[in-house]
Amino acid sequence: MAIRIMGTGSCLAKKIVSNDELAKYVDTSDEWISSRTGIKNRRIAVDETTTSMATGAARNALDMAGKAAEEVELIIVATVTPDYYTPSVACKVQAELGSDKAIAFDVNAACSGFVFALNVAKMYIETGFCKNALVIGAETLSKILDWDDRGTCVLFGDGAGAAYIEESDKGIISVVQGSIGKKGMVLNCSDRKTNNVFLNKPVETDYLHMDGQEVYKFAVRQCPKCLIEALDKAGMSAEEIDYFVLHQANVRIIESVAKRLNAPMEKFPMTLDYTGNMSAASVPVMLDQLAREGGLKRGDRIAMSAFGAGLTYGAVVLEW
Ligand code: UT7
Repeated sequence: MAIRIMGTGSCLAKKIVSNDELAKYVDTSDEWISSRTGIKNRRIAVDETTTSMATGAARNALDMAGKAAEEVELIIVATVTPDYYTPSVACKVQAELGSDKAIAFDVNAACSGFVFALNVAKMYIETGFCKNALVIGAETLSKILDWDDRGTCVLFGDGAGAAYIEESDKGIISVVQGSIGKKGMVLNCSDRKTNNVFLNKPVETDYLHMDGQEVYKFAVRQCPKCLIEALDKAGMSAEEIDYFVLHQANVRIIESVAKRLNAPMEKFPMTLDYTGNMSAASVPVMLDQLAREGGLKRGDRIAMSAFGAGLTYGAVVLEW
């Protein structure tokens, strides 16, 4: 028995913002952003919310799998940019879809969120608690960015990706997850209102802060390490993998992982040039693009990996 991805879907914010467009608002250039990150465009939510994009991606995943929303038993949304502190995005998606019998909740593991949520859903199904699940990564990161900080605001974009999973003969072979909480403040966003009647402090809002170089060092070390661990657990080598679906943060990080695994860049499809870094949405959107346009076939072997705030990291090896 295994847990298999039966359908994927994505939904990106409609507004496309190029590097040149950004350079009108921030002291940056297409040359700097392209050469340091590989990002050319990103999507920015104007009319969309995290919930609306998560719902759109979920509907597309259900369509691909040929499943009705009423049949869904579990909805997990990985996000760090929920529309409300409560209710969760997952509960709002449940209401939009009409998946009335589903259990619904969010997971906060930043860019590793989809991988973390996928493993949670896998375990719910393996234990027999649920028969199927929608696992969604959805973000409107543009709303927590400091648009005066050129070191972060050029990197991120808004969108959602989803996977519908259920029991099958083949599917997920191995999973690795990890967290390094003691390094967490290298990528943080508090965004909590700090006043209450006892504290008597002014209301403060906060934006995303990142020590880019620390995160970069963490990524190029931890991403290949957890991929190798997941491959070992699966009893497979990097040569046996058809596609590496990595978190879409920076082309230089992806190139470094490819080099470390001694795998050709053709096995590392990318969306980051047109999506930017969409945190928890990056991996499922990449997977969906591969499933719909990238020539992915049943039986192909995929190794996914993500890393990000927390700090968190994870990898999954699966047969499509
Ligand atoms: O999802 C996980 C989250 N994040 C990541 O994965 C990000 C990991 N880190 C990175 O990808 C890279 O560290 C960055 C792309 C964020 C930065 O690249 P870098 O090569 O590490 O650049 P840097 O931070 O060392 O900055 C180099 C220079 C600095 O100028 P000086 O001090 O050398 O004069 C920056 O002020 O580039 C400057 N700079 C910019 N210039 C133009 C920083 N941001 C920009 C910008 N446009 N947007």
